[in-house]
Amino acid sequence: MEHISVLVDEVLANLRPVPGGVYVDATVGHGGHARALLEREPGIGRLICIDQDSDAIARSSAALSAFGSRVVFCNQSFTELRDILRQAGIHAIDGIVFDLGVSTGQLKDPSRGFSMYLEGPLDMRMNAGAALHAKNLIEQLDTDELADTIYRYGEERFSRRIAAHIKARQADITTTADLALVVSEAIPARHHPRSIHPATKTFQALRIAVNNELQALETGLQAACDALGSAGRMCVISFHSLEDRIVKTMFKRWAAGCVCPRDLPVCACGCTPRVRIVTARAVRPCGAEISANARARSAKLRVAEKL
Ligand SMILES: C[S@@+](CC[C@H](N)C(=O)[O-])C[C@H]1O[C@@H](n2cnc3c(N)ncnc32)[C@H](O)[C@@H]1O
Repeated sequence: MEHISVLVDEVLANLRPVPGGVYVDATVGHGGHARALLEREPGIGRLICIDQDSDAIARSSAALSAFGSRVVFCNQSFTELRDILRQAGIHAIDGIVFDLGVSTGQLKDPSRGFSMYLEGPLDMRMNAGAALHAKNLIEQLDTDELADTIYRYGEERFSRRIAAHIKARQADITTTADLALVVSEAIPARHHPRSIHPATKTFQALRIAVNNELQALETGLQAACDALGSAGRMCVISFHSLEDRIVKTMFKRWAAGCVCPRDLPVCACGCTPRVRIVTARAVRPCGAEISANARARSAKLRVAEKL
């Protein structure tokens, strides 16, 4: 299943790749952004392509094989960026791209259990070797914990009702279709959203929890900021407000430097700004891109430059 990469021109225009530069695609997926980068700057020094999904690494390494040994593939989480770079003997990078969330290949593969539209096991792991999948997450959490998870990561107002329904029918819920049905039944019909499946927010919440996505994002962004050399750029594409809030908050904190209380007359922390925020407002896809690719409608790109 083809994945259409989002905001490709905007990422390249902001990343400004230079000959001999060292770059990281932290979420290589199908290799769309990586390919565009390699085609835009054929003189690139090295491109480290990371994905925690072994299928994505197999797919992208086959797709990008023509670019040779300058492109290196790592089947790891971007939370391990520090180790990945150390093992590759890289001290500083010139740019990094994060394109968060799941790829079309993951979403459209029923056996991965990401989609409420396709029947498959209740899995949702990006890293198929990880211990926790959606079925055992549901079993491990009590009703309150499950409701909190659905509320926090799905921003779902019917989280309590949904959690209670899921826990009451837990033994019968083994597939994505079972879960989608139980969630739909938990939400009063008059409150079913018009444009999305009623279980969309619950599926998002469980996926975020299974993959520990928000914690991973914070760790990955921090490692990226540390790894960037002076004038190196970080481009982050997010797809929902929880991710975007983390990106925005971390960029602001790095740009501000000092973390002293506002009423302290003189800085005591000694922290200095680490980045300049390039995108005062998030960059959004244009209308034509959204018409061609529905997944682009919620995409936001934020860019920071290391000082
Ligand atoms: C939207 S897709 C990327 C698509 C890619 N930019 C392209 O153009 O083909 C997101 C990818 O990020 C990967 N991913 C998500 N979280 C990750 C993490 N913590 N570490 C490494 N890869 C991750 C997913 O497995 C998925 O393949």
